[in-house]
Amino acid sequence: MKIFIINGANLNMIGKREPNIYGSESLDDINKYIKIKADELGIEVGFFQSNIEGEIINFIHNAKDNGGNGIILNPGAFTHYSYAIHDAITSVDIPVIEVHLSNIHKREEFRHKSVLVDACLGQVSGFGKYGYIMALEYFVNK
Ligand code: DQA
Repeated sequence: MKIFIINGANLNMIGKREPNIYGSESLDDINKYIKIKADELGIEVGFFQSNIEGEIINFIHNAKDNGGNGIILNPGAFTHYSYAIHDAITSVDIPVIEVHLSNIHKREEFRHKSVLVDACLGQVSGFGKYGYIMALEYFVNK
């Protein structure tokens, strides 16, 4: 089984960006942690980060052809307005779980709405890096 972990806008900045919200670990640190857990679970993971909406769309389009069985997606702020990423998810036959480091429902009003979640299996929000692991475990055990 191969799962792609996609991180969207500004997630390359975590570790430096608002550490009171997103913690002090970099995306690289988090990806290393995910890789260790994926090895323990016996699954393959692939990582992609982009600040560019179209690159995320292209990655989603190609994920199945690239051997993916599922996607764990933290879209960053694209969550709240990208109908284009929504339509990319509904265009392909690969399950997607939306993940957020912070609990978006406890933050500013504009973050409460995800325009993507109805196209996803579900959403994990507020558990930091452990949210990615929860989503991985779902894919392994479902
Ligand atoms: C985020 C939450 C979004 O609202 C925000 O724009 C991000 C990060 C999170 O992981 O908590 O960039 O997706």
